[in-house]
Formats: sequence, structure tokens, C-alpha cells
Amino acid sequence: MISIVGSGRVGSSIAFLCVSHGLDDVLLFNPNKEKAIGESLDVASAIPADSKFSIHGTDDYSELSSSDIVVITASVGVYEKDRTENMGLQVRMIKEIAQKIKQYCPSAIILIVSNPLDVLTYFFQKESNFSRFKVIGIASSLDTSRFRYYISETLSVPQSSISNALVLGEHGDSMVPVFSGVKVGGNPLFSMIDTRDPITDAVRNYWKTLRNFKSRSQFGIAKNVFDVIESILHKREIFIPASVVLEGEYGENDVSMGVPVKIGRNGVSEIQKIKLDDTESSSLKKSAEKIRNDIKSLQD
Ligand code: 2OP
Repeated sequence: MISIVGSGRVGSSIAFLCVSHGLDDVLLFNPNKEKAIGESLDVASAIPADSKFSIHGTDDYSELSSSDIVVITASVGVYEKDRTENMGLQVRMIKEIAQKIKQYCPSAIILIVSNPLDVLTYFFQKESNFSRFKVIGIASSLDTSRFRYYISETLSVPQSSISNALVLGEHGDSMVPVFSGVKVGGNPLFSMIDTRDPITDAVRNYWKTLRNFKSRSQFGIAKNVFDVIESILHKREIFIPASVVLEGEYGENDVSMGVPVKIGRNGVSEIQKIKLDDTESSSLKKSAEKIRNDIKSLQD
């Protein structure tokens, strides 16, 4: 069973994709029971006729007890200018959720979606004491989708011609698009652009640009989370960047941030070491430092 904690736009969009693809049973949790039931009733009409699975809404954590995967999209409020705005309250929230999940489904794989993504992934893992390979922050793959989009728009090429695009580090202003390995139609991206700055700025500010036109993003993150759920349930390994608590990888400790990982049936099966140029390595170090400072500011 897939449980989704938080049934706002993002949670219900993930539920819609899982249900309409007949992936597994879905439980939508919201402390506001009416909200959970309302969204689940809406999504239930998308169950394919040949599906074995269903969806329900609840405000009762004990119903999560048979979850294989728990996705956390909950949020205490809306931030306007920076994903870290409600950080203290979000961390308190994630610790409470971690305790409930530890109580009711201690073997589940956890996908964190709420912001600030890396900080919450770190605190969930520490609070639950779950394996760091089973607490996965999903956002760098969303940033990577945006990176590919802007390369495609800048060069007027289809995304299918772009390979090795990755965004690492913080899901925030210090994120690091990795240009050095990107190929377009088999040729290095660096042979086609003069500077990384415009694409980097566009990717980092994507969510702010979107908010000039729509209150919040929902579909991109939903598809990226769906892909991870599908890879776990169908035991089909995928390679994406995702936030994981690091123990020495990329020279970092006491931090969770986006790194290239393989994800399979048991969560993260490998953190991959990829080649970065000097600019990327030093930006990644700064990004880790930024997240670590945020974490430290909240530690007792
Ligand atoms: C996004 O990047 C706001 O984290 C959210 O769309």
C-alpha cells in the first residue's frame, strides 16, 4: 500500500497518478478528515475498470500500518519567497510524523516531498532512526526535469536528444546543475553555450517564475515521485538525483542533499560518484554548507 501524508495539490496529484496507473492501494492521510475523504473520492473515479486496487482517505495514523511506501507532502503553511521560511514549524511537523510512522509502519520506505526538502529529509531520518537508504528526499529529479526543459528551450532541441543532465545539492537557491557531463545529440553542451549562468538562474528560480502565474507547482513533482514509487513497486532500478543523508560521500557528513543514486525495491541501493568539474565541486560544497547551517540552526 502507498500512503500519502498530506492531501493537498501535490499529495492528491501523486494519488491520481498511482491510482490511474493501477499501481497499488492508496491511502490519503490528512488531519482534516473531510479533505482526505473528498480528494480520495474524486481520485477514486479514476480507478481503471481492470484495477485490483482502491483508494481511501483517513485522519487516523493507525491505518498506515500496512504501508510499503509513505510519501510525505504535508505542510504547515505557504512560504512566499524562500522554501526555508517555515523551517522551524516544518521540522517540528516532520518529527511528529516520523514518530507516528515509526510506530505504525517501521519497515516502510519514506519519500519526503515537503520543504525545506533536504533539512526535512535529514530530520526525519535522525528522528526515526530508519536506514538512511530508506528515507529519500525527492526534488533534485524535479530540478533535473527543469534543467532539461531549459536546455531544450535554449537550444530548440527535443529533450530526447539531451543526456546526462543532473541537478545536485540543495532543493533551493544553492542547487547545482551539472553541465560538464551533458551531451546534446552526442556532443558536449559546452560546445553549444557560452556560459552556464542563464540556464542555472532559470532552473534555480523556476518555482518563483511559475508562481507569477500559478499559486503552486504540482504536476512535475507528482510525476517525479510517481516514477520512484513505480520503480520500487515494480522492482525496476532507476538512476536519479535524490536527497540522502550522507556519511562521507562527496566528502560530506551531517547533511542530506541531492546526489546521484540508484533506487530499487529496497530504496537507495547505491550512491554513485560522478565526475564534476572544479566549478561544480566547489558549488556543491557551498550547497552542503548552506543546508548544514540550516540544520544546525534548528538542533537543540
Ligand atoms: C518547487 O520547486 C516549490 O519546491 C517546490 O516547485
